[in-house]
Amino acid sequence: MLVSNRASTTFWHPFADMSAVNGHELVVASGQGARVRTQDGREYIDASAALWFNNVGHGRRELADAAAAQMMTLAAYSNFGDQATEPTLRLSDRLSALSPQEDCKVFFTSGGSDAVDTAVKMVRRYWWLKGQPDRTWIITRNRAYHGMHMAGTALAGIPANRDGHGDLDSRVRNIQWDSAAELAAVIDELGAEKVGAFFCEPVIGAGGIYAPPPGYLDEVRGICRDRGVLFVADEVITGYGRVGSMFASTRWALDPDLILTAKGLTSGYLPMGAVLVAGRIAEPFWNSPGVMWRHGYTYSGHATAAAVAMANLDVLERERLVERVVELQPVVARLLQPLSQHDAVHEVRAGVGLLGAVQVKPDVIAADPTFGPRLIGQLRERGVLTRMLADGSVQVSPPFVIGEDDLASIAGAIDEALAALGSIRRARPMLDVNLLPDQTSDEAGGFGSSDDRLLADVPPHHGG
Ligand SMILES: Cc1ncc(COP(=O)(O)O)c(C=O)c1O
Repeated sequence: MLVSNRASTTFWHPFADMSAVNGHELVVASGQGARVRTQDGREYIDASAALWFNNVGHGRRELADAAAAQMMTLAAYSNFGDQATEPTLRLSDRLSALSPQEDCKVFFTSGGSDAVDTAVKMVRRYWWLKGQPDRTWIITRNRAYHGMHMAGTALAGIPANRDGHGDLDSRVRNIQWDSAAELAAVIDELGAEKVGAFFCEPVIGAGGIYAPPPGYLDEVRGICRDRGVLFVADEVITGYGRVGSMFASTRWALDPDLILTAKGLTSGYLPMGAVLVAGRIAEPFWNSPGVMWRHGYTYSGHATAAAVAMANLDVLERERLVERVVELQPVVARLLQPLSQHDAVHEVRAGVGLLGAVQVKPDVIAADPTFGPRLIGQLRERGVLTRMLADGSVQVSPPFVIGEDDLASIAGAIDEALAALGSIRRARPMLDVNLLPDQTSDEAGGFGSSDDRLLADVPPHHGG
């Protein structure tokens, strides 16, 4: 069976409808390369790199050895004040050198949401230190996902993620994801002297996998520069190779003030995030004698996580895995594109990095809200593990080590799964594979996963 046989669970799953998940957990027990095995011994292609983080593949002994060696030496120590641990210093130097920012300084966090929270505080504190304390407004794009701390929840471009948590930060404005003109208009309306930063996911991930329209990033970067607004690139997904360069900021020459990273930093072997800070932004923090920024986390720069990150970057570089993403980029597009011939498919988006989405038509989903989850169930039956985005897009974002045969199996499984649900594939002129706006994933609230048909038919955990 696909699910565990535990009648009930005490584990409160993140991003889950527990009324549906309780008693229906899929327990993933082991992994190797781009494949994982569940507790019942079934093998799956990991089509989503877990939650976009397992870039170097599962089962890397080198990373485990790095963790063990560091733990036997010194698992972790406080990095507050003047204290530091060795791997932390080494990793900081390495990230500073990797970053496209001039004179980059590195502020470590425990994950992506911490990085977002740190960035919001850093931006406001920066302007306060610069004598412009009114620059507190933050502008974000709709469809953007910026993590789940209170700051990130307020920044969310996905309304369902904000609902029901009381008053959030009111000095946040959300703009159309693809409109540079709206960014300029909103900054001018608020008054540039009141705007701290624009937070931008260069390629929107959890919000639906869509790339920036041509010229968009250049334009918004210019608008921010002209108006003195800081540019924050949220690269929690795109950082460390996912879009075929070490950072999206490198690929699109963004010169960001801050780059937020996590996931691929350790490939998820241990939790860790890092905010990469341009020297010009760090400057007032670093050169204000007697002024301490009272911010940091117990695990900021955790020694063992840092050692694992170093080993992870070693693998990435030695095996030229970012180059591998560049090679696979057109392969994903070529393999997924024919799926646009399915009458149930709205469009296929691929072609930027190791990312792809196959979106089911909204009217198909509207007529049958179980279609998406059942599609995921069909994929599981065919040995492919991924999730359904809430508008009905299948997420494709496997580990960088995936073989072309496994990529073809993912595409084949989606084809068969659609057919099993009654979709007919017609030879019609190929639609261009593109990256267009998309309504989002489970982060947007998901399907009605308590729907009776869903509970009856499919494993009800299609997200997270
Ligand atoms: C763009 C982006 N920012 C922030 C986050 C939050 O990261 P975390 O879940 O590690 O807190 C995510 C997580 O998916 C993300 O995709």
